Amino acid sequence: MGIKLQDDFLWGGAIAAHQAEGAWQAGGKGVSIADILTAGSHTEPRQITDGVVDGLNYPNHHGIDFYHTYKEDLALMGEMGFKAFRTSIAWTRIFPNGDDATPNEEGLQFYDDLFDEMHKHGIEPVVTLNHFEMPYHLVTEYGGWSDRRVIDLFVNYAKVVFERYRDKVTYWMTHNEISNQAAVSDNPFFDFMVWTNSGLKFDDKATLADKQAAMMQAGHYELVASAKAVQIGHEINPDFVIGGMVNVAALYPASPKPADMLAFQKARQARDWFTDVHVRGAYPAELEAFFKRTGIRPDITDEDRADLLAGTVDYMAISYYNSTTVRATSEQDAEIDHPADVEVVKNDFVKVNDWDWAVDPQGLRYALNELNDMYPYLPIMIVENGFGAYDEIVDGQVHDPYRIDYLKAHVAEVEKAIVNDGIPVIGYLSWGPIDIVSAGTGEMKKRYGYIYVDLDDMGEGSGERLRKDSFYWYKQVIATQGEDL
Ligand code: BG6
Repeated sequence: MGIKLQDDFLWGGAIAAHQAEGAWQAGGKGVSIADILTAGSHTEPRQITDGVVDGLNYPNHHGIDFYHTYKEDLALMGEMGFKAFRTSIAWTRIFPNGDDATPNEEGLQFYDDLFDEMHKHGIEPVVTLNHFEMPYHLVTEYGGWSDRRVIDLFVNYAKVVFERYRDKVTYWMTHNEISNQAAVSDNPFFDFMVWTNSGLKFDDKATLADKQAAMMQAGHYELVASAKAVQIGHEINPDFVIGGMVNVAALYPASPKPADMLAFQKARQARDWFTDVHVRGAYPAELEAFFKRTGIRPDITDEDRADLLAGTVDYMAISYYNSTTVRATSEQDAEIDHPADVEVVKNDFVKVNDWDWAVDPQGLRYALNELNDMYPYLPIMIVENGFGAYDEIVDGQVHDPYRIDYLKAHVAEVEKAIVNDGIPVIGYLSWGPIDIVSAGTGEMKKRYGYIYVDLDDMGEGSGERLRKDSFYWYKQVIATQGEDL
């Protein structure tokens, strides 16, 4: 039994353009940084190729063909009773190269039609401006977000879409999971996140300090771009609700040992400065201290600081999938500039999914409370949460009790966070309500959907859509405002 939530609670789901739309060259679309990512797996990382190489498998080129199937797909979301649906605008449909003098009308028209279709079903669009899909041309010609000029290019893109969809979209967010890149370390595995966030690619010679300096510079420009977009958005329509977006894996210390506690706290700070700048419009003390005592001095002007302060967000959008447990690797003081002082360890109190992501519903309530402690009363929208799993079709049906168990347990924690803890959570949009290409691995078989899509990792299959058991479960949850879990 769940707890009935407020009538205006935004129930629904979320996807991103590059993982769903496919049609990577249709309607004048340019090449994005997602279009040159090969397919990988749980054990094989995705490769970032120099342009599109013949003969390689690029799963984002086909996605689930949402570009052509969105009408039928949205009808299924409507059938589940969705109040809101989050997707991103593919920047490259609007500005194929990122620095084009004029926007691409065919791309603009596509999103006009898409948002109209959502409204037809009574579904509120929730729109991400930049979800791991910046124009590739901005990487080859500008070096991605390492170049200050990209701020204005992004802000211009934001202005164009804010004006165009002024009366169709109210809820916006700027950069998806902007803080993922803070994970950059000696381990090249995490370089992938700096690519998806910032379009930066490191060579083998890059030291940890080089990587951190590049990530912080790019992150700063992204934050300034976000703050400027927030200001312009509010000028265009004062009713716009514009947020930042971060992943909030709950962080735990491996033990109450003081060094572990400090390591855990520093790991959190190393990630949360992005949220601080979004919400408070200023860098936190430990990061200012880091800039002073290390050689890492990002280009931050007084004008930038004024912009950050003037462009604070209206709400925070978050994704939550798992928790992470860390310990100190020595008795030394863990520091924000020493990721090597912190090690991720297994938490014996939680199970993991097939991709080793810790399944921890209470961690979501913990993360929500932590956010509310840091930014009291700031509205929070959960824009991603879900269970990636292998599904099997048996006699034309997909029975997915594992997914229902995961979602049920997480929604129950959200309800407690709202009702027992008084946290202003305004919506729950689960990730991938329809199966899409995984961002991390490029697989189709890592499925999150209530709706099964008959496509495999090579993009082969009928593309047919099938309602899973979880489809009917979620429909009932929405119909009862979360009471019937
Ligand atoms: C988030 C991203 O990191 O996690 C999504 O915003 C992504 O784009 C989701 O799909 C789940 O990750 P994955 O790797 O299972 O697709």
